[in-house]
Amino acid sequence: MSNPTAAQKKTGRILAEHQELRSLLRHLDHFTQEPRPEIGQEGFHRWASGLSRNLVDLHDMLYRHFTYESGSGLFDDLKLAHPRAEKIIDELEAQHPHLLQEVRDLVHASLGYSQGEAPANPRLRKRLAETLQQLREHEEREGELMIKLNAWDIGNVD
Ligand SMILES: [Fe+2]
Repeated sequence: MSNPTAAQKKTGRILAEHQELRSLLRHLDHFTQEPRPEIGQEGFHRWASGLSRNLVDLHDMLYRHFTYESGSGLFDDLKLAHPRAEKIIDELEAQHPHLLQEVRDLVHASLGYSQGEAPANPRLRKRLAETLQQLREHEEREGELMIKLNAWDIGNVD
């Protein structure tokens, strides 16, 4: 078998990161579905700190993932090979900073929570669930697009 091309390596890494991300999102789903102790009750600080830690991990993973997706050049190569996909690729890339900002806002809110402050937005868990769903949809669209465009098969070389 011949060595994988640069595009195959990049695609493989991105798709593997999508799997990792999905597993972290599932973990966060379970976390948010568990009963939450009330502010001031025993276990509350531990719960809120756990949420902050999970969100920081999510931010870190997303930051590195998005940076790789844009910096690896795969999106640019895909746009060159499939000009009709340019609009959707640009649209997906433009979502990256917004998704990161949303996760940072959630980190901030959950840290306030762990200090025992009631969050400014009392529907933190609902907002978190919505953000997790947006992330899932975003990554699913990217993954499907890469598969549809045969991202591993474009003619770039090492
Ligand atoms: Fe992605």
